[in-house]
Amino acid sequence: MGVLFLLMPLVLCLSRVLGADVDPALPFSEYLDSGSSVLLRWGFDLVKDFIMFELSVKTTGWVGFGFSPNGGMEGADIVIGGVGPDGIYFTDRHAVGKFMPLLDEQQDYRLLSLTEADGQTVMKFERLIRACDKDDYPITEVPVKLIYAYGKTDNITYHRTSRGTKEVNLLKFMPKAMLPDSNYFDLTMTNLTIPTENTYYHCKVMKIPLLDQKYHVYRIEPLIENMDLVHHLLLYRCPPTVTTPTEEACYTGETQTQCFQTVAAWGVGGGAFELPEVAGIPVGGDDGKTLYRLEVHYNNQDNIAGRVDNSGLRFYYTSQLRQYDAAVLMTGLAVVPGYVIPPNTTNFHSYGVCDTSQVSQVISDPKADLHVFSVILHTHLAGRKIRVGHFRNGEQIDLLAMDEHYNFEFQQAVNLGKTKTIKLGDQLLVECTYNTENRTGLTLGGLATTNEMCLAFLFYYPAMSLSSCVSFPDPQILSHEMGAANEIEWLQMMFLKHWDEVAINEYEKTLTEIQQYLIVGNIANNVSSNTGLIPQLKAAPPVSCIKKNSSNITHPSVGLVLLLWITALLILS
Ligand SMILES: *[C@@H]1O[C@H](CO)[C@@H](O)[C@H](O)[C@H]1NC(C)=O
Ligand SMILES: *[C@@H]1O[C@H](CO)[C@@H](O)[C@H](O)[C@H]1NC(C)=O
Ligand SMILES: *[C@@H]1O[C@H](CO)[C@@H](O)[C@H](O)[C@H]1NC(C)=O
Ligand SMILES: *[C@@H]1O[C@H](CO)[C@@H](O)[C@H](O)[C@H]1NC(C)=O
Ligand SMILES: *[C@@H]1O[C@H](CO)[C@@H](O)[C@H](O)[C@H]1NC(C)=O
Ligand SMILES: *[C@@H]1O[C@H](CO)[C@@H](O)[C@H](O)[C@H]1NC(C)=O
Ligand SMILES: *[C@@H]1O[C@H](CO)[C@@H](O)[C@H](O)[C@H]1NC(C)=O
Repeated sequence: MGVLFLLMPLVLCLSRVLGADVDPALPFSEYLDSGSSVLLRWGFDLVKDFIMFELSVKTTGWVGFGFSPNGGMEGADIVIGGVGPDGIYFTDRHAVGKFMPLLDEQQDYRLLSLTEADGQTVMKFERLIRACDKDDYPITEVPVKLIYAYGKTDNITYHRTSRGTKEVNLLKFMPKAMLPDSNYFDLTMTNLTIPTENTYYHCKVMKIPLLDQKYHVYRIEPLIENMDLVHHLLLYRCPPTVTTPTEEACYTGETQTQCFQTVAAWGVGGGAFELPEVAGIPVGGDDGKTLYRLEVHYNNQDNIAGRVDNSGLRFYYTSQLRQYDAAVLMTGLAVVPGYVIPPNTTNFHSYGVCDTSQVSQVISDPKADLHVFSVILHTHLAGRKIRVGHFRNGEQIDLLAMDEHYNFEFQQAVNLGKTKTIKLGDQLLVECTYNTENRTGLTLGGLATTNEMCLAFLFYYPAMSLSSCVSFPDPQILSHEMGAANEIEWLQMMFLKHWDEVAINEYEKTLTEIQQYLIVGNIANNVSSNTGLIPQLKAAPPVSCIKKNSSNITHPSVGLVLLLWITALLILS
């Protein structure tokens, strides 16, 4: 009795904090759609290795929910349930294409309750965090693309359903900040008539509205008008040498090609980007002198004529400055036309090294560490996997980021879930795996979607005046090692070569073993150049999987969860 009495005020306080209708076993919640029709609540226990979900959807038909490697249907782990004329149905499935997902042989999701009332279906279920079935998706401490779909009736047909995707870090959830003192500005195209070309990059160099003092941007939202044609967009800050607004096709003008300090990015499938509470992107307080370059990639496969576009980004800013300025650093393989990827291979590896020990050579005020909180991994069409290794004193200490299912159609900033610290002196290795099995000719490094890149954009704080930290193989040594007299002869040789497995392996080995040029650039495009080697990247440790009988998963009592909450609160207070 005494203990209960003591706990009462805490319980009351808890219910005020959480709101009356929050289930303590499901402390997290997020709408998966923009119309607030699909609400996901969840909670988990890392020790017991289970995660519980409650999906509420405004429909009396079927509901589907799942985990997708790249945001699409294919390869997704899906549950479908509902209350039909014959009662409750609920199945664990997996999709192998854009059609009805197949039933898993092993049913690993456990239904806890399924109700239909007031035009709403509520499905509550649980599963292991890890997956011990090849058809289930393991949930890890990185964001996962959640997909949902629902129908008006219990007839599960593919067409005319409502569906969508949202990336959520289930195990490291960061709720959206609510700032009282905030405002926004938009940087967009203005009435741009989209050309009928398949691939078109438009660049607009412009100013932001005049801001009397320094503010911090804390949230960036996409404003996309032609969803079917806008593929991705990037915003760069220009150096002080760029003073005139311009607008033209990208990489044709003089001034715009100087603006290379990435500020923000959005890609198909992406949503809003929220900065961590300790950092913001600085804007204003510069007499409005700074120019920004908005680059939009239009993908007009059907050559539609006459579409007018005003797409861009919305920047929410606040005068309540956060502790640190945030910035973006481009790392990986330098984008150089002399870089060549052979055809006829399903897993060609390219590497780029960032050596942060060179930072002090290009900026006068190097801070101690880079605290990285988010990354954008970037290749073009041939990219299949990207991994970013983190090295200290020659030893790999972490994989900073990894995408084993890279998809050009779904690229966006991915929150790391926690802040990772790169000390000045550490090295980063960006590894890209390409598939060129159906290409007949060489793939060159470059800006077109049919060229290739291998980059990781790191969002970090405190901001330093850096723009890039990249490398590329020494072309002279490469030519020599490949038996050519000079670089021109080498390139001719590459074009004529018969690219069978032996030739490809030999070339890949040479590329990774020879000396690299390591380049670090500041925002004024001054660079430091050094030489070095590519360190060996270790594979990610395998997720150990203890096979459990799914019906053994116990449902913790509400009492136990409450007690855990209270213990946590006591420790925190
Ligand atoms: C379900 O939908 C399909 C396709 O529209 C239709 O052929 C079928 O008759 C429907 N089944 C029921 C039970 O309504
Ligand atoms: C863009 O086009 C719309 C519709 O034609 C027009 O009302 C608007 O004034 C135009 N905006 C600019 C900046 O030209
Ligand atoms: C290459 O072509 C084959 C046959 O058309 C196809 O199955 C495969 O998916 C293609 N590979 C890539 C990487 O596009
Ligand atoms: C592709 O590689 C295979 C395996 O080494 C080889 O037999 C074939 O000749 C190559 N094809 C081309 C077009 O180079
Ligand atoms: C960039 O380099 C130029 C010439 O080497 C030098 O005059 C200038 O001060 C440098 N700027 C910065 C910001 O380091
Ligand atoms: C689950 O239950 C089965 C049968 O009751 C038992 O054999 C098995 O050891 C249990 N597994 C775990 C992980 O507790
Ligand atoms: C799982 O456990 C349940 C009871 O706990 C048992 O009936 C069932 O046979 C078990 N299944 C397997 C595959 O061990």
